[in-house]
Amino acid sequence: MNMRDKEKYIENFHFPFCDESEKYEKIAKIGQGTFGEVFKARDKSNPKKFVAMKKVLMDNEKEGFPITALREIRILQLLKHENVVNLIEICQTKAAYRNRYKSTFYLVFDFCEHDLAGLLSNVHVKFSLGEIKKVVQQLFNGLYYIHSNKILHRDMKAANVLITKNGVLKLADFGLARAFSTNKNGLPNRFTNRVVTLWYRPPELLLGERNYGPPVDLWGAGCIMAEMWTRSPIMQGNSEQQQLTLISQLCGTICPQVWPGVENLELYKKMELPVQKRKVKERLKHYMKDPYACDLLDKLLVLDPAKRADADTALNHDFFWTDPMPCDLSKMLATHTQSMFEYLAPPRRPTQMRHHSLPRPTTSAVQDSGYQDRVF
Ligand SMILES: Nc1ncnc2c1ncn2[C@@H]1O[C@H](COP(=O)(O)OP(=O)(O)OP(=O)(O)O)[C@@H](O)[C@H]1O
Ligand SMILES: [Mg+2]
Repeated sequence: MNMRDKEKYIENFHFPFCDESEKYEKIAKIGQGTFGEVFKARDKSNPKKFVAMKKVLMDNEKEGFPITALREIRILQLLKHENVVNLIEICQTKAAYRNRYKSTFYLVFDFCEHDLAGLLSNVHVKFSLGEIKKVVQQLFNGLYYIHSNKILHRDMKAANVLITKNGVLKLADFGLARAFSTNKNGLPNRFTNRVVTLWYRPPELLLGERNYGPPVDLWGAGCIMAEMWTRSPIMQGNSEQQQLTLISQLCGTICPQVWPGVENLELYKKMELPVQKRKVKERLKHYMKDPYACDLLDKLLVLDPAKRADADTALNHDFFWTDPMPCDLSKMLATHTQSMFEYLAPPRRPTQMRHHSLPRPTTSAVQDSGYQDRVF
């Protein structure tokens, strides 16, 4: 085949199961992640249907389709649940002269109107206690489902939690997710510990644990839960050491008395682990007020992953089974007509670290848009 024939062949080739991205019309950019851009788009054949298109970054790929994207797709194809974002299909631009015969691939999802980071940074969005319970309950429902299917999310954070206009929560961004199984033939797992955004990273990962499991996601879920009240991430470290310090200041000394075996973790002796009193309830009660909420958070932000509550235990907690009961969010969300995404919120101002206090509820720096500075 000569060059021209080859090009013609590529141009005319139709990948089975992979429609052309032309069938969607891009409306706006709504996200920019490490792995590419995300767009809101409309289905041309059904103008009422909106989707989110996540571009697969191919720039550094010499070997074809990136393995990380393949992994994300495989996992998303496996997971089908009310509280997990739904992958509709993969589509691609047509290979042609103008793109040097390299198509761009997109993951196409059902569109969700908001992400939790966007909602929490807007002061006009006010959650009642029943509404907070509904968000947190759906978060644990999603985690219960993915963990039952032997998938770890590994990037829990408010921006990766989507909320539809009907108030249905969807876990999203499975770009770092992986399958797990409990140690085959007695050998410990050796997963990478370079996962999870620093502010949501659990102490076992910060100390170099590679044989970890679902508790890593429950730590992040605890941080997100607290954020429903504080409206900004509760531990904003700017280095791994500082993150461990902030964790110790809130959750108490990291030591073998509360966490048997911690002394065997690779970085236990290399990191500075300050001696501190545990103050989870004491410090969060000013924000959370509800004693059941404080109690559940206290069971999630547990240093020893073996003692941390799992999704099932969390779902059975009295927090979800006492008045006010979890209640529908759609009415409250209906009062907000604009989509709220972290990407569209104004950038945070440079982090001002407060080592000894949590963010204070304040209304300063509220801008006209209603977006609030999320770092206090
Ligand atoms: N289905 C969807 N509906 C609406 N918005 C979405 C959807 N999927 C993703 N987004 C938006 O795009 C953002 C980035 O998407 P995602 O987290 O999947 O990509 P990413 O590149 O892995 O991001 P990052 O590296 O920043 O975590 C999300 O935080 C969310 O605001
Ligand atoms: Mg993300």
